[in-house]
Amino acid sequence: MARILIVDDDPFILKLLQSLLVKTKPHEMTTALGGEKALDLLRQNEFDLMISDIQMAPMSGMQLLKEARRLRPEMAVILMTAYGSVTTAVEALKDGVFDYVTKPLKVEELLITIDRALRFHEALAENVNLRTRLARYSFQNIVAESDLMRRACDLVERVAATDSPVLIRGEHGTGKGLIAQTIHAYSKRKAKRFLPVSLAQIPEVQMTTDLFGTAKGVLGDGLPARDGTLRQAHGGVLLLDEIEHLSMAAQARLIHFLNTREVLPEGTETGQPADVRVIATAVADLEQLTAQGRFRQDLLQRLTPITIDIPPLRERRADILPLVADFLRLEAGPGHEAPDVLPQAQRALENYDWPRNVTELEEVVGLACRTLDAGHITLHSLPDAVAAAASLAAAPVREAPPRGTALKEFLLDSLKHSRKAAGPGSKEA
Ligand SMILES: Nc1ncnc2c1ncn2[C@@H]1O[C@H](COP(=O)(O)OP(=O)(O)OP(=O)(O)O)[C@@H](O)[C@H]1O
Ligand SMILES: [Mg+2]
Repeated sequence: MARILIVDDDPFILKLLQSLLVKTKPHEMTTALGGEKALDLLRQNEFDLMISDIQMAPMSGMQLLKEARRLRPEMAVILMTAYGSVTTAVEALKDGVFDYVTKPLKVEELLITIDRALRFHEALAENVNLRTRLARYSFQNIVAESDLMRRACDLVERVAATDSPVLIRGEHGTGKGLIAQTIHAYSKRKAKRFLPVSLAQIPEVQMTTDLFGTAKGVLGDGLPARDGTLRQAHGGVLLLDEIEHLSMAAQARLIHFLNTREVLPEGTETGQPADVRVIATAVADLEQLTAQGRFRQDLLQRLTPITIDIPPLRERRADILPLVADFLRLEAGPGHEAPDVLPQAQRALENYDWPRNVTELEEVVGLACRTLDAGHITLHSLPDAVAAAASLAAAPVREAPPRGTALKEFLLDSLKHSRKAAGPGSKEA
C-alpha cells in the first residue's frame, strides 16, 4: 500500500479526488489544503507519491515542488495542470517530477499514471543512487523540440539509470531504435554490448533456440550446446525489436528469464544465469493482442511499468524543421555549409503527414540534397506528395480546451459515473 499525498487549494477538488481514488485503489491517502499545509505534512511524514495542482495560491505548485524536492528527493510527484500551463509542467519535469496529467483529464489515465509513478518510484529506489539521478544529461543525438518529445527524453534520462525492463512504443520510423540505444549509452552498461534482435525477421520455429539457445545434443548427437542471443548479451542490453512477433513459447521463456534471471535453453530444464537488461519495442497494440490471447498478460505487465511512448511525427510538428536542419548538417558533413530550405518547401515539410515518420523525413531530406534548385531546397527538390502539402492550410495545431472550471466539472462528472458503476447499494461519499 502506497502513501499518497494529494494537494490542492480547493477543498472541493481534494474531496472529490480522494473519494475517487479511495474507491479504486487501496492506498493510504492524505490530503493537504494548499502548499503550506503540504509542507507541514512533508516535514513530518514520508510519502511515496505527491499529486499536486500547479495553480494554487498563496503558495504555487511550483514553489511547493521546489521545497518538496529538497525535503523528500526520493518521492514521486505528479502535477495536475490545465492545458494552458503544460509548459510549466514540462519545465517541472526537468526538476525530477515523474509526470503530469492535463485536462481533459481521464480517470483511467490518472490511475495509470499513478500506478506507473509508484512502480517507477520502486524501481528507482531499488536501483539508483538518487543523487546521481538528479544530474542532468543532454542527448545531443536526439532532436526534441516538441513538448511531447521532450517528455519522452526526460523519461529516457531517468530510466537509463535503472536496470528495469523498458517498453518503447511507437509507429515505424518514430525513433524507437534511437531511444533504445540512447538508454544503453547513458546506462551503467554502456561499455557492454547493445544487441538488437529484430523479432519480425526470425521464423517462429527458430525463435526459442535463437534467443535462449540449445542444450548439448539437441542439434544432433554429440553436438555441443549453443548459446542464444540472451546469453550473448550477457552484461549488456538486449533490444527485442517488435516484441509483438515473439512466439508464445519464447514469451514463456522470456517471462521466466525476467522473473529469475535464468535462461532456459531448448532441451533442458536447467537454467543458466545471464545478466541482461531487456528493452522491448512495439509497433502493434499489445493490449489488444493480449485481449486476443496472442500476447501474455504477465509479460505485458512485466514490461509496461516503464513505457516510453513516441508519438508519430505528425503529432509533434515542432520537431520537423529542427530534424531537417539536423539531417542537412549531417548530409553536408563537417566544415561544409548546409543548403537552406526556402519557405514554400518548409511549409510543405511541416504540413505533410509523414506516414513513415522520421525515417521518411530523413530519406526525403537526403533526396532533396541531391536535387537542389539553384543551391536551395525548393518545392522542386521534394517528392510530389510532400510538395503538394505546401498548399494545405497550416498544419492543425491542437486546440486548448477552454480554461476555468473544466477540471471540477470533470471530477464531478466522473464521480457521478463511478457511483453509477458501483451499482445499487453503494454508499454516497
Ligand atoms: N528525435 C530524433 N532525432 C534525431 N534523429 C532521429 C530522431 N528520431 C528518429 N531519428 C532518426 O530517424 C531514423 C529512424 O529512427 P529509428 O530507426 O530509431 O526508428 P524506429 O522507430 O526504430 O523505426 P522502425 O520501426 O522502422 O524500426 C534513424 O536514422 C534515427 O536516427
Ligand atoms: Mg527500429
